[in-house]
Amino acid sequence: MKVLVVGGCGYIGSHTVVELLKNGEEVVVVDNFSNSKRDVLDKIKKITGKEFTFYEMDATDKEGMRTVFEKETIDSIIHFAGYKAVGESVSKPLLYYRNNLLSTIVLLELMKEFSVKRIVFSSSATVYGAPEKLPIRENAKISTTNPYGETKVMCEKILSDFVRVNPGYEAILLRYFNPIGADESGLIGENPNGIPNNLMPYIVKVANHDLECLHVFGNDYDTPDGTGVRDYVHVTDLANGHILALQKPLEEGVHIYNLGTGEGYSVLDIVHAFEKANGVTVPYVIEERRPGDIASCYADITKAKEELGYLPNKTLEDMCRSAWNFVKTETKTEEK
Ligand code: UD1
Repeated sequence: MKVLVVGGCGYIGSHTVVELLKNGEEVVVVDNFSNSKRDVLDKIKKITGKEFTFYEMDATDKEGMRTVFEKETIDSIIHFAGYKAVGESVSKPLLYYRNNLLSTIVLLELMKEFSVKRIVFSSSATVYGAPEKLPIRENAKISTTNPYGETKVMCEKILSDFVRVNPGYEAILLRYFNPIGADESGLIGENPNGIPNNLMPYIVKVANHDLECLHVFGNDYDTPDGTGVRDYVHVTDLANGHILALQKPLEEGVHIYNLGTGEGYSVLDIVHAFEKANGVTVPYVIEERRPGDIASCYADITKAKEELGYLPNKTLEDMCRSAWNFVKTETKTEEK
């Protein structure tokens, strides 16, 4: 099977490319390095010992993307090429709508032109807004509070509308909860430039003395310790969810799966697990709630388990250890 991975150099994309190659699939990667580094390509080769084809291309560039479809006989697509910072999406909505919607439309148009029947789309638990019931099932109500979330809802709608009128085509929407951790090699992982928005990259920078202390956004939520509860999933388990989705026999229409672990952990659970797993300290202060945050969000993963055979098996300790291992490995490489 030849899989086109659009946005294959980013955090989740690169881990998925590694798992695809380990599974013996043929992989074609497209990325424009807008939020990733070129050296990821060599690192993926080093981890897997396998070759793959790469095109430096913007997924919204239809003519450029057409040349990829002309050269490669693609069986399936995984679309990771989306901007993902909530705060930035509020200040630059058009950037988000243009990139996230247009890339999806371009891929669908080319799928139609070249008869590529299946696309797997990176969606997010953000589409559940403030959930009414926990754990969250795929049929829960959809709502969003920011342009980033809107783009996920809109892309889901565009993909669903497309497959509805195109018999034989399938769209698989994977709603990610909170991916953290890194490949065991320590070569690839998540290390955003500047001050991170998300919890784990922030904790890692505090542990590494790049930042002074963690700001815990609120300890007065209706949760066991008052801090926000999320469903953290190891990025390698998440990546394997994509491989399982592609291995499933093609079934026309739209199929939606939650990818998390089904377990909820609080901010302080994560801080303490990180300290214990890595023998470091993570100083923190309690701050005001972050606007737009919810108390708790965790998945019901029954559907992915039953229909895909998805079985996340990495522990919270694995997630914390691998996240730290990646940053330590990267720091060592930079010092050389
Ligand atoms: C965030 C986005 C979500 C997006 C996801 C992508 C918001 C409101 N939501 O999810 O739309 O799909 O990232 O990965 O931005 N926390 C702190 N201090 C920090 C950072 C986070 O206490 O410095 C807390 C948050 O309040 C939350 C938990 O840690 O309770 C997780 O936060 P984060 O990693 O940003 O993920 P989400 O907010 O769940």
